Amino acid sequence: MIPQSFIQDLLNRVDIVDVVGRYVPMKKGGANFMGLCPFHNEKSPSFTVSPTKQFYHCFGCGAHGTAIGFLIEYSGLGFVEAVKDLAQGVGMVVPESDDKMPPAQRAEHQAKSLALTEAMTRACDYYRLELRTAERAKNYLIGRGLTGEIAARFGIGYSPDGWDSLRTVFPDYDASALVEAGLVIDRTDEEGSNRKRYDRFRDRIMFPIRNTKGQVIGFGGRILDNGEPKYLNSPETPLFQKGNELYGLFEARQAIRDAGYVLVTEGYMDVVALAQLGFPQVVATLGTACTATHVQKLSRQTDHVIFSFDGDRAGRKAARRALEASLPYAADNKTIKFLFLPSEHDPDSYVREHGTAGFEQQVQDAMPLSQFLLKEVAGDNDLSTSEGRAKVQFDAKPLLQAMPASSLRLQIVRGLAQLTQGTPTEIESLFELSNPVGRSRAAPPRSKRTPPVGLELQVMRLLVAHPALAMELDDDALKAMVHFVPDNAAMLTQLVSAGRQMGEHASFATLSEHLRASGQDFDSMIAEIAAEPESDRDTARLELAGAVRQTKMKVLKAEQERLAAGGMKQPEELMRYRELSLKQEQLRREAEDEIARR
Ligand code: UTP
Ligand code: MN
Repeated sequence: MIPQSFIQDLLNRVDIVDVVGRYVPMKKGGANFMGLCPFHNEKSPSFTVSPTKQFYHCFGCGAHGTAIGFLIEYSGLGFVEAVKDLAQGVGMVVPESDDKMPPAQRAEHQAKSLALTEAMTRACDYYRLELRTAERAKNYLIGRGLTGEIAARFGIGYSPDGWDSLRTVFPDYDASALVEAGLVIDRTDEEGSNRKRYDRFRDRIMFPIRNTKGQVIGFGGRILDNGEPKYLNSPETPLFQKGNELYGLFEARQAIRDAGYVLVTEGYMDVVALAQLGFPQVVATLGTACTATHVQKLSRQTDHVIFSFDGDRAGRKAARRALEASLPYAADNKTIKFLFLPSEHDPDSYVREHGTAGFEQQVQDAMPLSQFLLKEVAGDNDLSTSEGRAKVQFDAKPLLQAMPASSLRLQIVRGLAQLTQGTPTEIESLFELSNPVGRSRAAPPRSKRTPPVGLELQVMRLLVAHPALAMELDDDALKAMVHFVPDNAAMLTQLVSAGRQMGEHASFATLSEHLRASGQDFDSMIAEIAAEPESDRDTARLELAGAVRQTKMKVLKAEQERLAAGGMKQPEELMRYRELSLKQEQLRREAEDEIARR
């Protein structure tokens, strides 16, 4: 059993738009993304993915679910496999067993990760505010050609030149979250006792690194003059794994869809410069080599990746690493290209010197993967000798083996055959290239159910759509409702306790997974909510309060009717009757107040 808290964390971390986008081409339409439903045949799109609900829904066939549900139904993975697949993509490790981690520890774990995110957000806001009055920092950015608009878009800030500037926004400067988030450094003196804590980032331009949901998970800090290190990055933290993240991906997402391709660069400055000068579809690796995780992340966004490398030797080496990381993803419907700038340039300096049109020309001239691969393996080998040709084949073997069977691979094999005076068949058998069989998939059968009615069902729907509201529901209200709807009492109680247990960050998506695991049949309700436009929590809160009041009224009235039917011979009975009237009056007044407040 994977703990529910982990599922909740995971769903809060992954973005369903990325997950579905890996398999289904989608366009933004209003608040949602739309595409052709992968679960039934259709010509016009009725499949929608809501980034706010973190849920997909097809108006054609009724298919719906979370990112986990999508993977299960689309790729035929089991629940655990689907969870593992998603977790890997966001750098989370699936805990082995439910009972290994006691609930208290699990809750602590969850609270910790929340504290880290909150600390990062607060620090980011602080650095941004500081930039406004830091003339030297502003002049530096202006000197590098940045506009205020682009600095704001990327949330660029400034960390002041003091040892503990963060104290201003973290009154509890000793909190452990600060060191775990990598915002401060603890140093102990020789005796290992006297701990000294100080800000990690001092007097630096701050680039916040966001995950695909927009949460700040790390920082890159650039020195203003020529010191070492030029860039200081957040250390690896539970939120931030450098090798998995791409700078600028959150900001670039829409632009990548619009442009139909993504540009991958090596530096923070390259991203902001290109974004400013007409290429917002740009991201950067964080000073690390391009990894398979990077390519996987990118291929969730688009089928067309263009790597841009500095013209120096280091750039060439980085390109080779990127090639290797890309090979497993080089399918026929993907385009991967490599762009090499003249040796004195990086994208930032190039676009500033040659302008948008100049860089656009570079994009046009980018080298396709097949050509780059052949160029790489040819290297300095002497193709006029048998030894030279054999060496080329030797070097090419692991690269071709890393590619999926595809017509692109065959093209490269042909090119290689020509280069080395062989035949494609020879090379294929020499390289032991095989043809993996694709996995087939089928849409699950779906049933249509009748929609729920009544006050108690309205309450349940509100609690499913906004489970965090359960925490605001007082026990009196719950009692009234359970009293009034004995048939659905169990379902209602279950919803309330699930919502309370999941806490402030409970969402429609996380609750849906929770309910699915618990086996209760809320599916038709979930399907309906998935199909509806997003309702906001404040409105839902008012609706819930209204429904609770109505329920309480009904309970009060029912008791009055019972008393009246009994004739009310005892004085206590009369008193109780009046009391019930007063209570109703009070509820009515509450309702009026609420309406007046709106
Ligand atoms: P570069 O040295 O090419 O820097 O490093 P840059 O991006 O062109 O920056 P400017 O134009 O000099 O300001 C490329 C990337 O490598 C990482 C950073 O992510 C940087 O953007 N890097 C570089 C570090 O992490 N630390 C360093 O000290 C240097
Ligand atoms: Mn640069």
